[in-house]
Amino acid sequence: MRVRIAASVTVLGLLWAGMPTASAAESPTYNQDVGSILLENCASCHRPNQVAPMSLLSYKDARPWARAIKSKVASREMPPWFADPSYGTFSNDISLTDDEIATVLAWVDAGSPEGDGPAPEAPRFSDAGWSHPSGTEPDYVIEFPIAWEVPAEGETPNFNLYTPLPFNDVLRVSATQVRPGNYAATHHITTGLVNMPPGKVLGTGPAWSGGPMVDYVPVDDPDADPAAQAIPAGRPQGGRRALDPEAREEAAAQRAGFGPYIPGVGADVARAGQVREIRGDLFDYVIWNLHYQATGKLEQARPSIGAWIATEQSSQRVRSLGLREATSEGRQLVAAPPLTAEERALAGPSQVGQGLNPTLDPIPPNDGNWTVTGVGAFQNDAVIQSLFVHAHVRGNDFTWLLTYPDGREEVLLRVPNYNFDWQFEYELAEPLRVPAGSTVKSIARYDNSRNNRRNPAPQKEVYWSEQSWDDMYLTNVSYINADDTSEN
Ligand code: HEC
Repeated sequence: MRVRIAASVTVLGLLWAGMPTASAAESPTYNQDVGSILLENCASCHRPNQVAPMSLLSYKDARPWARAIKSKVASREMPPWFADPSYGTFSNDISLTDDEIATVLAWVDAGSPEGDGPAPEAPRFSDAGWSHPSGTEPDYVIEFPIAWEVPAEGETPNFNLYTPLPFNDVLRVSATQVRPGNYAATHHITTGLVNMPPGKVLGTGPAWSGGPMVDYVPVDDPDADPAAQAIPAGRPQGGRRALDPEAREEAAAQRAGFGPYIPGVGADVARAGQVREIRGDLFDYVIWNLHYQATGKLEQARPSIGAWIATEQSSQRVRSLGLREATSEGRQLVAAPPLTAEERALAGPSQVGQGLNPTLDPIPPNDGNWTVTGVGAFQNDAVIQSLFVHAHVRGNDFTWLLTYPDGREEVLLRVPNYNFDWQFEYELAEPLRVPAGSTVKSIARYDNSRNNRRNPAPQKEVYWSEQSWDDMYLTNVSYINADDTSEN
């Protein structure tokens, strides 16, 4: 700080003397000001083995990118963050403050000087590119057994492969991460826990209907005894079943597995005192729902899963409220019923359980303002922790409303410019306690007009599915039951 005071005294002196105001002494430097901003706000993505195209870990790394940094920081495109700052405060908000932005711009305008003094030290990062904020490597890693080849051109549909889950007990974890193995070629990955459908075994089959033959596909078991095609007692089947809401939520939590890989999102770390359970006692396989995109050259992608074992003995469990009672354009609210066996067969394996909502009408051609509203109600007193939104390229904006039982309303989150490339879980800085009977509504607007420059086909009716040329409405709230908190 003493340096700064001295610098401003100099500037005043110069001004007094009628000298030009731009002085090397007043401009921010990398070592004093800008380095720490870049390390804290950019390096999580801008480092080797990560999603961003270049590293910003040192002065030498950052200097050649100064002009680009100025332009992306000034336009607030970098760091990517989409919540309207007027509503809510989020602990994973990576946006820069106005002061930080001004500092970065002034640094570039002054010719990006390195400055005196020692360079700021980079935080600790995992050598293998894992993203736990502590910089530690995971305690447990499951590597996908093969490297998938993504052709240089053309669309690869979503597909599912199964690999055996390598443990039979309950793994209690504090964090998990799914790493894509190839950021450029990976659109997204979701993982879940499943059992083999009756009469099937893991074998070689088409990756998707008409797709290439690969291992790790459920195929008919030639040795299956039709009389013995039941799932062993106590083991849940894959797919959705007609259960009461509580039991469905429980089943969904059990199947959730290691979570997704979504662009820009690193390790999923539980809050202090909370754990997640990976139920190896109930499930035998990991299902990998893989979605790749062509990059113009042949790519190889071999994803992996990392888990950080929980050291705490807490029983506080993170739950998820899916806003599945949805309506579009003011029609009557309808709950998405569990898919019937026929619907499931028609939908194909890639769509089941992935947010396909057979009750939503398609988005009409050229409609620039199509809304979908989803609602979920808390059955018990709850503590809301985070909000998640997912749509594809027609997704335009999202508004989250909380309604208390007495009718009071509060905006929890607004995402005015939803961007398909970045899907953040919005973590409330202060978890919010709400009484039983409160509802959460998420209102999404879709733009299927030609004004949406990402829209590949405004003239088309858009259906709901996992394929990125279709669209999705998937939003949920992570919460804990308030009773769980009071135990602490
Ligand atoms: C959540 C991950 C993430 C964070 C955090 C992030 N970036 Fe990026 N950045 C990316 C990705 C991915 C790209 C390439 C794709 C794109 O441009 O959207 C990128 C692109 C850029 C580019 C353009 C590079 C080019 O090829 O022209 C600049 C400049 C940049 N980032 C600067 C920054 C700065 C400065 C920060 C911090 C203040 C930052 N980024 C934080 C992920 C991130």
